[in-house]
Amino acid sequence: MQDIEWGSLPFGYFKTEYNVRCYNRFGEWGEVEVSSSEYINIHMAATCLHYGQEAFEGMKVFRGVDGKARVFRWEENAKRMQRSAEGILMAEVPSELFYEMIEKVVKMNEKFIPPYGTGSALYLRPLLLGTGPQVGVKPAEEYMFMVFVGPVGPYFKEGFQPVRMQIVRDYDRCAPLGTGHIKVGGNYAASLKPAARAKEEGFASVIFLEAKEKKYIDEAGPANFFGIKGNKYITPDSHSILPSITNMSLRTLAEDMGLEVEKRHVLVEELGEFEEAGACGTAAIISPIREIFDRETGETFTYGDGEAGPVTTKLYNKLRAIQYGEEPDPYGWTKIIIE
Ligand SMILES: Cc1ncc(COP(=O)(O)O)c(C=O)c1O
Repeated sequence: MQDIEWGSLPFGYFKTEYNVRCYNRFGEWGEVEVSSSEYINIHMAATCLHYGQEAFEGMKVFRGVDGKARVFRWEENAKRMQRSAEGILMAEVPSELFYEMIEKVVKMNEKFIPPYGTGSALYLRPLLLGTGPQVGVKPAEEYMFMVFVGPVGPYFKEGFQPVRMQIVRDYDRCAPLGTGHIKVGGNYAASLKPAARAKEEGFASVIFLEAKEKKYIDEAGPANFFGIKGNKYITPDSHSILPSITNMSLRTLAEDMGLEVEKRHVLVEELGEFEEAGACGTAAIISPIREIFDRETGETFTYGDGEAGPVTTKLYNKLRAIQYGEEPDPYGWTKIIIE
């Protein structure tokens, strides 16, 4: 095996040795198969290729301070994938099968779990595809569920350094009653163009507004938005936001730290009232935001003095410590996969 520079990994694809797969034919899940191929062989009329019958998840396994490998809140990912499957009429992966497969693929690729202290983790990518052929617009009769893994560093190259974000109004990620609340590929296709433009213009990511009224904050690129105002942790509520497992966890931590948590519509104007702001998700836990630029109005909202704010930092450190087994996990969020 090549020497891996654990501390400077990008957030990207990394070839490992094994992945696991399972097929659902006419409503029944078959045996779990192990593969060492990076490719999948599917029918050219597979519904995932034509009609977007595709859902995925993103989760991490951390090598703890005690040497144990822990997966974070896997049941929530399993449930979210079930909701995604239900939302676009795919076969649902039962939680037991989901766990069996992540456990197997992590154990088989144990040597790719980054060592403790490197800031990196093993990223797990469960993927559910409609593989059966259809030419009419209909759900498939065959599905494939697979999980591949790879070591990753932090999502934003800045790490826990505050980033600049851009509000876009000339693109929507999803329709108000569409699929924004589930993790299906189409949402991401729709976000690629504005995200690429934001990068070209010097921003880490975009902030989408709720598509119907364009008044409220929706998603922060591939992450949820939150703001800190006084003693409050405030995060947008919208049908088109993906319920982030990180955000869910931060809300619990915030409450337990004595903050008041509000999940509600957040007007763009309110951005001017926050003392701290952040984007949260599995990839980075939190990317603190130092500036939000509204591309259409030219308005700029700024937070802090170039460093992450105290509440953001405290939340980040707490969640990170639980994930790496540095602090007790009173919530039962982590599950040890490898002792
Ligand atoms: C659109 C979107 N929002 C939010 C998130 C954050 O969710 P989580 O914290 O479960 O990773 C993700 C990443 O999964 C995402 O793709």
